[in-house]
Amino acid sequence: MTTPTAERDEPAASAPLISVRDLTVSYHVARTGATLTAVEGVNLDVHEGEFVTVLGPSGCGKTTVMNVVAGLVAPTSGEVLVDGRPVTGPGPDRAVVFQDYALLPWRTVFDNVKFGLEMQKHLKGDGWRDRVQEAIELVGLSGFENSYPKELSGGMQQRVGLARAIVAEPRILLMDEPLGAVDALTREVMRDEIEKLIAATGKTVLFITHSIEEAILLGDRIVVFKSHPGAIKEVIETKLARPRSERSVQSDPRFLELRDHLWDALQAEATEAAVAGGS
Ligand SMILES: Nc1ncnc2c1ncn2[C@@H]1O[C@H](COP(=O)(O)OP(=O)(O)OP(=O)(O)O)[C@@H](O)[C@H]1O
Ligand SMILES: [Mg+2]
Repeated sequence: MTTPTAERDEPAASAPLISVRDLTVSYHVARTGATLTAVEGVNLDVHEGEFVTVLGPSGCGKTTVMNVVAGLVAPTSGEVLVDGRPVTGPGPDRAVVFQDYALLPWRTVFDNVKFGLEMQKHLKGDGWRDRVQEAIELVGLSGFENSYPKELSGGMQQRVGLARAIVAEPRILLMDEPLGAVDALTREVMRDEIEKLIAATGKTVLFITHSIEEAILLGDRIVVFKSHPGAIKEVIETKLARPRSERSVQSDPRFLELRDHLWDALQAEATEAAVAGGS
């Protein structure tokens, strides 16, 4: 198809904020003594302010790559640079929104969001209370400061996770299927909210999803992974005007072209994975 695939050889306007270079990650599986190569030879540059979505079959290494960028998993070979410096651990410039919310059940909404500052040791002075309150307002949870996670819906818990991630004002948001566990309607509403929030704050985002539509609606570029071994299959520029509402975009020929292309790409991957798994 005519979709331009970014081969990463076009001249960059500026140095990338995130640079994944020839990244390979192998896990040692203690139970079997085997070594499993999760991803091999991954190269990806993400520029400041870019929203990059990541699609790919289950187990192809999407979370692994994100965890290396977050500083939670070390590369086996290759490296990840953030702002030109190798990542050696978590830092205040990066925050993660986990699929399963990962909230602290014994803490209120306010204290869960406050945890985002505690992790970055940002609690000096008095200003932190205002920052926590602002983050809670930004995700639309004013009035629920004293509620506990179990008193909230899934979508609301996800918002707490988002507020905790943005409270320390990281430059980079790493989002691992952040809408995976909410119902379809909430998902649509939250997707719009995330888009507005990111546009307002100018953050750089790496966003893993299983939804083709979501990858197109949110991404400036879409990274498609393949399995066996996990690697990047292609990178596609969305080239759709913003703002993009689900309804307006669905009749756009470019949206339909991208959707068809991604369906075919992922189906081919799923078929190959089934063949590889059966052999
Ligand atoms: N800590 C670990 N120890 C051993 N193997 C692991 C570990 N974490 C992940 N793996 C393996 O690495 C591979 C990639 O896993 P990863 O979680 O990165 O995939 P994914 O693309 O995020 O999948 P999904 O879409 O299901 O979330 C899988 O085969 C998985 O079993
Ligand atoms: Mg994953």
